[in-house]
Amino acid sequence: MAPPQGIVPGKRTRVVVVASQKGGVGKTTTTANLAASLASAGFVVGTIDLELQGQLGVSFGAFAQKPKDVGSAVVDFLDVIEDISAFGKVGTEIALDDPRLDITPRLIERMIDRTALLKGFEGSGSLWVLGSVMSLTERAKGEIAKRGWEAMATLRQLILREVGGYFDFILIDTPPSNDALASLGLAAADYVVAVCNPKIATADGARVVRNSVMRIPKRTDGLCNPVFLGTILNEAQPKSRRTPETDAVDEYLVKHDLQPFSAIINASPQISASYGISRPIVIDEPGYAASKWYETLTQELLNRISEADRAQAASELEAAG
Ligand SMILES: Nc1ncnc2c1ncn2[C@@H]1O[C@H](COP(=O)(O)OP(=O)(O)OP(=O)(O)O)[C@@H](O)[C@H]1O
Ligand SMILES: [Mg+2]
Repeated sequence: MAPPQGIVPGKRTRVVVVASQKGGVGKTTTTANLAASLASAGFVVGTIDLELQGQLGVSFGAFAQKPKDVGSAVVDFLDVIEDISAFGKVGTEIALDDPRLDITPRLIERMIDRTALLKGFEGSGSLWVLGSVMSLTERAKGEIAKRGWEAMATLRQLILREVGGYFDFILIDTPPSNDALASLGLAAADYVVAVCNPKIATADGARVVRNSVMRIPKRTDGLCNPVFLGTILNEAQPKSRRTPETDAVDEYLVKHDLQPFSAIINASPQISASYGISRPIVIDEPGYAASKWYETLTQELLNRISEADRAQAASELEAAG
């Protein structure tokens, strides 16, 4: 898969967050396959499992343990921020590269290298996982909730500071909720994609995500400015099995400007089976139809990212007069 114009490996890190306020719609499966697809196409890809169950790690056969997990990394960063916060606010008064913000181990040392999964893909990049341990992720969530909106930028700042230049992409899987953990994830994003199923309740979950994304700049005092890229329809049904609800979901996504991707992912037992062997389908069986759906989706994602970047550059130019 050739990267489209504007996305040059090695230039800058783009953080893509996969979200839905409803559970079980395929966030983890989508995150794992998009990440694997980008990595096999040659990008350097990091993933973060911001979810209590730790299933993204399992998808890659990466099993987290303290301190090599997202919860410990966030709490350790909050601790160093607290130690120096009498001097000001990180990102505005305190520079992100301030050595007092160093954490040990470093973020990259906490990540599990799963590049071995890409064996056999010519010209592939690399694939890393920052996993989740339930009790520690729970603790990070509690600390963020306690500190309120001022702490929402924490994960973004940690990523930019620690691995900002290293990865081409960081993909973050998030919990099915609208709580402090989900906000921490959304605030870390450059781009957010929602996932839904052909069920109205899940399309509504995508709308909740989009609305949360729109509130982030104000809630973080302008520190975080994620862009909503659109909604992925997962577990779609073939034409022969369409129901009135399937049509209603299509209409809902358009009516509420949830920008459905043209590439859709059908329901396929091969997709769910790949979770059990800890190898996303795009890696395990790249020739299968399901893997082609993800490849098309990845290409559309890259196109939408390029478009969003162009729109942002244009509006910055305009603002500069
Ligand atoms: N396109 C698909 N076809 C068939 N099964 C799928 C598909 N996508 C996901 N699944 C299966 O549906 C279940 C839920 O998927 P997944 O765990 O990715 O959802 P989730 O949104 O991350 O869930 P949670 O909200 O609990 O984190 C899993 O068993 C997964 O294997
Ligand atoms: Mg999940």
